[in-house]
This record gives sequence, structure tokens and C-alpha cells, in this order.
Amino acid sequence: MVVLGIETSCDETSAAVLKNGNLLSSVVSSQYFHSKYGGVVPELASRAHQKIIVQVVGEAINLAGISKGDINAIAVTYGPGLIGSLLVGVSFAKAMAYALKIPIIGVNHIEGHIFSVFLSNESPEPPFISLVISGGHTMLVLVENLLNFKLLGQTRDDAAGEAFDKVAKLLGLGYPGGPIIDKLSREGDPNFVKFPKPIPSKRTSGYEFSFSGLKTAVLYYLKRINFQNLSEDEKKKFIPNICASFQKAVVDGLVEQTFKAAMDFNIKSISVVGGVAANSELRKRMAEKANELGFKLYIPDLTFCTDNAGMIAYAGYVKLKNGIKSDLEISPIPNLKIG
Ligand code: KG4
Ligand code: ZN
Repeated sequence: MVVLGIETSCDETSAAVLKNGNLLSSVVSSQYFHSKYGGVVPELASRAHQKIIVQVVGEAINLAGISKGDINAIAVTYGPGLIGSLLVGVSFAKAMAYALKIPIIGVNHIEGHIFSVFLSNESPEPPFISLVISGGHTMLVLVENLLNFKLLGQTRDDAAGEAFDKVAKLLGLGYPGGPIIDKLSREGDPNFVKFPKPIPSKRTSGYEFSFSGLKTAVLYYLKRINFQNLSEDEKKKFIPNICASFQKAVVDGLVEQTFKAAMDFNIKSISVVGGVAANSELRKRMAEKANELGFKLYIPDLTFCTDNAGMIAYAGYVKLKNGIKSDLEISPIPNLKIG
């Protein structure tokens, strides 16, 4: 069974070909030009998807060594995401499915991230707990089986990746901030400033997150040391320490809430997915904790942490095997929920 995956929910145009659950090709075209605006500009993102989607899909098909006629179904992200960006992928997938007379399968982007763990060599058997941490989402999900997802708790405000991006902006670093903070933190002292963990003081579900207090604490700290008026040399001394201290608070909170959920539900397998799962300190600390407590941990290879169509193709493949298809009336749902 050959599935073509298409992903255009934010600022990555991606296509991938999956045959019987094995990835034959994956092409990702990233819109780096957004960095000069300090974040993704929706209108520019959709136009850039439109310009390149034909090329990206063509390349994925060529690299896989197949022809269009070999494709059995098209899986496409239909939400959540930016409406203009989603529209490009969904419209393209609809037209192609219609022309080739093959089924289309709408995939939830967050479920796609959860399936990204199946693209690596070792993957978990359900039930497992999945920590989904990206630029738009931060949530703990109980994957009961490959078709049933139970949301245990999510962020009340910013997503983890958003917090990395906003703190990087406060420090005058580039966009996206996550990889930059990750790198600078390696030179810094994580105990330089004690920032609050991203866990709300008044919890409702018990598995929630809140990043706004942490972001504000960084802002107040920068005001206190008069960061804006420091010389470039002085800033350089502070930045790695602030990055490492901020990153420690994030990692502490993510690790604590994830293992709490796993222990409460007595689930022995944990996965960490989404762009922030690329964070080196988080990968290390999660592995240490899993080792210490006897849990099995699964984190995708770095290329499958950030947005890619391989994960969308895999989610589509699982749906198709279970007889789930969409119809050509499918339209994007920017605020699509999980489950
Ligand atoms: O999953 P993703 O590619 O897109 C969304 O669905 O949002 O995640 C992008 C986010 C960005 O906020 C970026 O700063 C963050 O993932 N990110 C990281 C790292 N690499 C990417 N955050 C922390 N450490 C990293 N190494
Ligand atoms: Zn994503």
C-alpha cells in the first residue's frame, strides 16, 4: 500500500511517500524568510506553499522511485494550523486524489506528530503516553490504541516552542528560538537564575502546563539587570546562563508532568514528539528519568521531530488500514481538536 503524505499546516511544505509503513522518501522545504519578521507571517506562508508544492510533491515521488499511478491514497493535514497554509495542501491533495481516482485521508496534525515516533527504528506498543511539544501545541495524550487518543492535559497559554521563540526574541536572538537556545545553553549555568517551572499552581486536570509565568519571569529578570542597556560583551556573558536557566525550568516541568501522567495511569511507555522534542537537554533528561524509573522512552530521530509529511503519511496509512477515509468535500479546520 503506497500512501503519499502532504503537510502544509504552518511554514514547512512537505511531501513523503510511505510503502507498507516504510518511508521511501521525505522532502521538507522550510520557509526560512520568516526569521526576519520574528515569526511566521500567515499570508506569506500560504503564498510560499503555493509556489513550491508542485515541486516538493514531484520530488518526493521521484525520490521514492515510483510513479503517480502507484499511489493508493493521499494523506493530508487538514488542521490544526494556519487556514491559508492548510488550504494549499488540502486543495492540492483533493485535486490529485480526484485526478488519480484514489481516496483522500484527512489527518490531524497533532496526531501526525504522535505517529512520527513510528518512523524511527524502535516504536512503542500502545497504550503509551505521548508528550506533544511543538510551536503551536503542548499536551499530554494517552494513546489507548492507534485510533483512540485521550487528551490528559494541555497548556493553558503558550506552547513550549512558542515560549522558546519568545524568550529568544527577548534576548535578541533569531527565529526559531528553540535550536538557538538549545545550543547557547550548552555553555551556560542552568542554576544561574531560578525560573518557575511551567506548571500552573492551580491545576485542574493535573496534567496541564502554563508557560506565560515563566516567560514573564524572564522578562522581569531582564528588566532587573537592565539587559537592554548592557554592552554587547556584557550581554554575551549573561545570555548562555539565562538560556540554560530558562531551558532547565522548561525541561523540569515537562519531565515532571510526563512521568506523573505515566505513573498515575500505570503506563510503562512514553513518547516525546514535536519540534521541541529535538531539544538536546530534554532528550537527555527524559532518558535519564526513564532509566531511573524503569520506563521505556521513544523519541523520533531529529528530522521527524519538526513538521514533516512522513508522519502524516503514517497516520494516513493506519487510518486506511482501518477503513477510515475522508471524501472530496473535506476542508481545512484551523482549530481542529485531537481525538
Ligand atoms: O513541530 P514544529 O516543527 O512545528 C509546529 O507544529 O509548531 O515545532 C516548531 C517549534 C519551534 O517553536 C521551535 O523553536 C521548536 O519547535 N524547536 C525547538 C528545538 N528545535 C525546534 N525547541 C527547543 N529546542 C530545540 N532544539
Ligand atoms: Zn507541528
